[in-house]
Amino acid sequence: MIPDKAPGEDVYQATCDLRKEAHVPSFEKYKELYLKSVENPEEFWGDVAKDFFWKSKHTGQFLDYNFDVTKGKVYIKCMEGAITNICYNVLDRNVHDKKMGDKVAFFWEGNEPGDELKVTYRELLKQVCKMANVLKSLGVKKGDRISIYMPMVVELVVAMLACARIGAVHSIVFAGFSAESLCERILDSQCSLLITADGFYRGDKLINLKMIADDALEKCTEKNFSVQKCIMLKHLSKDGSLLPEGSQSPPAKRACSDLQVPWNPEVDLCWHTLMEEASDECEPEWCQSEDPLFILYTSGSTGKPKGVLHTVSGYMLYTASTFKYVFDHQPDDVYWCTADIGWITGHSYITYGPLANGATSVLFEGLPTYPDVSRMWEIVDKYQVTKFYTAPTAIRLLMKYGSGPVQKFTRRSLKVLGTVGEPINPEAWLWYYNVVGEKRCPVVDTFWQTETGGHVLTPLPAATPMKPGSAAFPFFGVVPAILNESGEELEGPNEGYLVFKQPWPGVMRTVYGNHERFETTYFKKFPGYYVTGDGCRRDKDGYLWITGRIDDMLNVSGHLLSTAEVESALVEHEAVAEAAVVSHPHPVKGESLYCFITLKDGFDYTISLEAQLKKQVREKIGAIATPDYMQNAPGLPKTRSGKIMRRVLRKIARNERDLGDVSTLADCTVIEQLFQNRCNTA
Ligand code: WTA
Repeated sequence: MIPDKAPGEDVYQATCDLRKEAHVPSFEKYKELYLKSVENPEEFWGDVAKDFFWKSKHTGQFLDYNFDVTKGKVYIKCMEGAITNICYNVLDRNVHDKKMGDKVAFFWEGNEPGDELKVTYRELLKQVCKMANVLKSLGVKKGDRISIYMPMVVELVVAMLACARIGAVHSIVFAGFSAESLCERILDSQCSLLITADGFYRGDKLINLKMIADDALEKCTEKNFSVQKCIMLKHLSKDGSLLPEGSQSPPAKRACSDLQVPWNPEVDLCWHTLMEEASDECEPEWCQSEDPLFILYTSGSTGKPKGVLHTVSGYMLYTASTFKYVFDHQPDDVYWCTADIGWITGHSYITYGPLANGATSVLFEGLPTYPDVSRMWEIVDKYQVTKFYTAPTAIRLLMKYGSGPVQKFTRRSLKVLGTVGEPINPEAWLWYYNVVGEKRCPVVDTFWQTETGGHVLTPLPAATPMKPGSAAFPFFGVVPAILNESGEELEGPNEGYLVFKQPWPGVMRTVYGNHERFETTYFKKFPGYYVTGDGCRRDKDGYLWITGRIDDMLNVSGHLLSTAEVESALVEHEAVAEAAVVSHPHPVKGESLYCFITLKDGFDYTISLEAQLKKQVREKIGAIATPDYMQNAPGLPKTRSGKIMRRVLRKIARNERDLGDVSTLADCTVIEQLFQNRCNTA
């Protein structure tokens, strides 16, 4: 599956400097390790496990599983019989065994420039122990579910690790979600306690988080479920002093004196008061390998979110090793992942992966465009960031403003760039590589899912020659395949369903409270395989290219097309900032292409531009992909995590006003504008 030799043409290679110090310095070395990881997982992961603390060793097989629904229940078990604690491994082990107590774990950078804080591993451990004791004093026990609804503050990491320390299961809900969504998630996992904050700023917008949290709790009560206690952190209120001993109190910039914080004395507790009284020592709860670690909700095709469940040991080994190899982590790195901890990227690559490696990270509360579009690069220079990880949507957004705002800062410290979340179109990839990284930094296009726990397809920065837009090859232990509609494995250059043939330590174990849904969603269609739901193409060199969700695939005159492919062709035009393509019914061809086009500043939407765009798509893909309809879209409907809501666009294209649930939409005003501009498809 992986070629013996990497191609030497039409690819981008890491610099010699990067290769010199890298964990995996060549393609040959990658291949050697990969073969070991799939042929002898016990030995491969056994080496990884040596770096961690185990109260007792595993007894059974390293990985035991069944992926075939026709043979019985689907299950995955990793290191059965082993006993450990993930919080102990990411904190105590670094402070005590590795003597890194004084190393900075997080540079916290607030929404407002100048609002900052530094937290060492020792300080973080103390805070986590205190919070763990607080939770225990409130009656929280191993296995209890705790809901966390907080902004991007260090205390969010403290809260999640405190849960992990006592074996409680955290369920973090992104702070941009509505009361309705929070309530739904609390009910599904029956959380006994909620941890939240008074409020926060997103750019210049004030969010009264406690008010939303209270609304959610009220909705829970209406549904006959009561959350017993709610711990509230004072993040904006003036008297809320932040973390570690010895650090300054929060700068006035963040304080907000007129925030009205609702308070219910029967339920609400103050984070700071509880912490003051708590001891900073706490013996970890020793957990079985397969004890649950956390639940994280992800959207499902039926509309109801799925509670993806991850367990202790496998997730720990997998996030630690992907972080180490994919970002080629080195002891003096300063790493920055711009995701929110409310999403899986933040769980795996802000909290667990980096801390397991004793890394120093930037934890950023704000937005890439506030107070201006140079903010990211200003932060890179300020902390001398070496490894930087963001989403294609952020890259495309910043690209709209050209290279000027980027070049205001040197970015000289950068060594590796990463992307995640959606296919990156080659134009955005090249801008990231050429302008941001100045042709010096490999770009790791990491493909993975909430369900996979960590990266599953990705280049390794010093080892894999890169092709812009390709997630390249599998990570260690991962065995991908491409299937056709009848479930046959396709060899050589081909396109079809992306599946995995065997588990890796970090794959999800079940949908919380609904194992049947787990089996139906991921294992029913092709028994024996984990089905990602994504389409994938393999080129002549064996590189894998994600073509987008299968549900975003369309069939035009019997030809399978991916919306991502067409979008990529459209955004290669100099006038186009972003494009979203949806399927529209067609009486002859079956389906046709309806395209929403967002232009860059300074360009006008004209008939002649439309003609140019159609020509461009025809040239890039073929006449079969020629757009049928095209409309000007000054804004696109996006979720708060930046994903385009194609479901909504499909409705707009069809002029159907019944949009269904749009509670995750970041900005509702774009919808009406799109209806007004829509094409006549009659
Ligand atoms: C998409 C995010 C192409 C894909 C970590 C997947 C990607 C879904 C990439 C999971 C990538 C993520 N290239 N597509 N590098 N990364 N995706 O659960 O469709 O929020 O199935 O996890 O995002 O999204 P999720």
